[in-house]
Amino acid sequence: MIPLAIGSFVTLLALGLFRLTRQWLAERRRRQRIEREFWARQSRDAVTRLVSDAAAAIPAPLEVLQQHAAVSSTVQAIVVARELGMLRFIDDRPGTTADELAAHFGFVERPVRAWVELLAAAGVLEGRDHGLALTEAARFYLYPDSPFFDSSLPAASISRSLLHTLRSGSAGGSKAKWSEGSAHHAALWGPAMHRFSFPLGFALDASGLLAGRRAILDVAGGIGSMCVALALRDLSRQLTLLELPGSVDLARQLTDRYGVADRVRCIGGDMFQVAWPGGFDAVLFTNIFHDWNDERCLELARRAYASLKPGGLVLVQEALLDEDRPGPLWTAHFSLMMALDMEARQFRPSQLRDLLAEAGFVDLRVMPLLGYNSSVVGARPLTG
Ligand SMILES: C[S@@+](CC[C@H](N)C(=O)[O-])C[C@H]1O[C@@H](n2cnc3c(N)ncnc32)[C@H](O)[C@@H]1O
Repeated sequence: MIPLAIGSFVTLLALGLFRLTRQWLAERRRRQRIEREFWARQSRDAVTRLVSDAAAAIPAPLEVLQQHAAVSSTVQAIVVARELGMLRFIDDRPGTTADELAAHFGFVERPVRAWVELLAAAGVLEGRDHGLALTEAARFYLYPDSPFFDSSLPAASISRSLLHTLRSGSAGGSKAKWSEGSAHHAALWGPAMHRFSFPLGFALDASGLLAGRRAILDVAGGIGSMCVALALRDLSRQLTLLELPGSVDLARQLTDRYGVADRVRCIGGDMFQVAWPGGFDAVLFTNIFHDWNDERCLELARRAYASLKPGGLVLVQEALLDEDRPGPLWTAHFSLMMALDMEARQFRPSQLRDLLAEAGFVDLRVMPLLGYNSSVVGARPLTG
């Protein structure tokens, strides 16, 4: 009897190990394929063919592709909120605030605020941070006991890690690794970010914001996507990229691939630890502030100020939330992702302007760049 039980146990163990190995190999093949295909696409000739006219504006990403990602995660955000009882709580206490909601459920305020923003952008709630109420449409179609219930909604997927993040406020993954100074999965992250930042680099060039500004520092510039775009568009530009060492290796590969390595200097280091070089005409942060809390962002803005020549510009590229109403939906969904994965969130224009003003920047303005992305720009005063 006992040898039989041991035999079954060993067989089960072997089967489990076999499945795990198969999954691991499949995941490794998937990653290798993504990397291979990414590098096969990167060619100066292909860019020149598509962006032939020096003054041409680059098209915004197709809206349907943007919404494709946003809609499925928004629907999950809705069904999870309903399943946890958050919608019923708001319905029973109209006028409640996002922070009261967080306190009642034992969640951290930041992700709950981002969640509420998304639910409001999706038409499930009225109000924003406070004065929350359930909309009539939500009451009709989201409650399973309503005769109008939309039964096509998917089941809520409430994982332990989601609940842990909501309760502790701390995200694992890349954020934890970055905080230890490691460029986590740069070979995958880089290509994932490139699809946002490469077109944004061309749009930033076309905006004219960098006209006459030659010495440019790109802080946490990923694998160099923005630097490459700017270097290709203006041969007089001298760029410096500051990144974690693992990403810098890939940035060198990308700048080399595009034939601009002689005009993009790559510095490997932790932006919160190393001394930044100085004397720049412009300092760029592209999709960086949304990864950090306000104190860290202020620290970055102050470091940028110190690295700029008097009159130099700081340019913060982010997808911005609307100032006076919830949304846009895409940005609100992105903000919730940042809140859950990065312990941060997307900003309203005034929040970024205030932050840059606190670091000493003046002449603050917001310039729409491409799709949902804008540049919030400030100048270091000529004196002081
Ligand atoms: C959201 S990505 C944006 C990358 C790039 N700006 C772009 O738009 O393609 C954030 C980047 O911040 C970098 N990063 C995170 N912590 C950092 C640190 N302490 N010092 C330097 N870079 C850091 C990561 O390696 C990653 O490439």
